[in-house]
Amino acid sequence: MKALLCKTLGLPDTLVYDDAPDPVPGPGQVLIEMKAAGVNFPDVLMIQGKYQFKPTLPFVPGAELAGVVLALGEGVKNVKVGDRVIASCQHGAFAEQVVAQATQLIPLPKGVSFEVGAAFTLAYGTSYHAIKGRAGLKPGETMLVLGAAGGVGLSAIQIGKALGARVIAAASTPEKLAICRDNGADETINYSTEDLRERVKELTNGRGPDVIYDPVGGQYAEPAFRSIAWGGRYLVIGFANGQIPSLPLNLPLLKGASIVGVFWGQFVARELPNFIKDLTELFGLVAQGKLRPHISARYALPEGAQALNDLLNRKVTGKVIITNGDPAELAQATSAAKAAPGPQSSPTSEIPLTGATAVQPADLATQVGQDIGVSSWFTVDQQRINDFAKTTEDHQWIHVDLERAARESPFGGTVAHGFLTLSLLPASSYEILRERVRVSQILNYGLNKVRFVSPVRAGKRVRNHVRILSIEDKGMGRQLLTTENTFEIEGESKPALVAHALAMLIA
Ligand SMILES: NC(=O)c1ccc[n+]([C@@H]2O[C@H](COP(=O)([O-])OP(=O)(O)OC[C@H]3O[C@@H](n4cnc5c(N)ncnc54)[C@H](OP(=O)(O)O)[C@@H]3O)[C@@H](O)[C@H]2O)c1
Repeated sequence: MKALLCKTLGLPDTLVYDDAPDPVPGPGQVLIEMKAAGVNFPDVLMIQGKYQFKPTLPFVPGAELAGVVLALGEGVKNVKVGDRVIASCQHGAFAEQVVAQATQLIPLPKGVSFEVGAAFTLAYGTSYHAIKGRAGLKPGETMLVLGAAGGVGLSAIQIGKALGARVIAAASTPEKLAICRDNGADETINYSTEDLRERVKELTNGRGPDVIYDPVGGQYAEPAFRSIAWGGRYLVIGFANGQIPSLPLNLPLLKGASIVGVFWGQFVARELPNFIKDLTELFGLVAQGKLRPHISARYALPEGAQALNDLLNRKVTGKVIITNGDPAELAQATSAAKAAPGPQSSPTSEIPLTGATAVQPADLATQVGQDIGVSSWFTVDQQRINDFAKTTEDHQWIHVDLERAARESPFGGTVAHGFLTLSLLPASSYEILRERVRVSQILNYGLNKVRFVSPVRAGKRVRNHVRILSIEDKGMGRQLLTTENTFEIEGESKPALVAHALAMLIA
């Protein structure tokens, strides 16, 4: 296959378009035909040996792509050949074929093109995690975005607006600032020609922004931080400027402000379920038209080095992508018929979703208020309670301490609240839903209300009666299902609990 190879560390011009060995997927891996790959600042750092992660030479750069699954490694069950997917892969994406971990795949949602799929995850994933997860931006607050016309910068503007904030965009040229306004910025600052601190003060009536999103670093960090509002949150995203700034620590003290580090790659590695939740919400915002990746340039694979050069030379706005194949096909949204039928993201989706009586998710609307099934019996044995307590570190004595429970518990044995709600409830709901509804994935979205009626003592058997309460179309083939779950205890008239559970059904 052909690939863009980094044979010696250096600037983008040192990259070579050449033959490379055909990659072979190992156990748990998948081979993908790259259709479009997103270009990101870390690619430029990695080929110079300046990134946290330093692959052995020669290597193929590129950390995100969208394409079609060509082959499966041993043990991969959550995806099949022909599926259209988005993949993340530290490096390797700027090639005709790419090997990725099956667990890193995301189905390309309906209505999303290969090029948007390739340009979305890293920039929007980073900004959403930073702005919503780390800074907790609230509607009505003000956010200042530096490097606002860049890849993560434009995504931050759009996300800030989608979350109801006022957004001030700062960039280096009038053309870049015009693009920021097109993408929703309320106010703009040209930090090459204007005094950043004075302008921020002016635009916020001296109060300062509540959140500052900084992917640039260098000389802008200190004046930006000095302008922050009381209780503000300063998001450290990156150092595109090349200089890691330092700040006098009296500044956060004086402002009661926080300096908040953001490392999206580690967030994905350490908090996969939260990342999947973010992504589902992000694609929901795409469906509502609130997020619209701005792709400013496309480069065919042989010309890929130029894409990295333009990024490095501050010539690009929004996202640029490297393509492989017919550009018209890449820009087309996936049709319903061709949409990926759902690789992993929830561990549950590894089990095939079938069932002779299964209906389309939207058809569940006709069953609101009805019981749709009862799970099999589950024995709540002490070993399961102990394993659950160990995994979740939920060591409430009444759950796990046999001796003390025998002595002091009014129930004469250990009980299992957490195990029921956090483990058995999703598992037993899934058992029913996967039979009743035709979807590629069912994501557990947590509980709305739980009423514990009767304790379940270790050794008892329980089963889950599921009734549909509501179903809400969230766009892009996603439906939010709310069910009422009643846990029957074998031989007892009172149930263990009644809970309202949320599940995202993905077509
Ligand atoms: N923390 C994380 O998890 C995470 C995730 C993704 C990206 N990042 C980091 O975020 C930063 C931006 O990434 P990106 O993909 O958005 O890059 P990008 O598209 O190139 O945007 C960077 C922006 O920084 C500004 N800039 C200022 N000085 C620059 C310089 N000397 N060279 C290049 N740009 C300069 C440019 O805007 P003006 O010309 O308007 O100043 C440019 O638009 C990078 O440092 C990247 O490593 C961090």
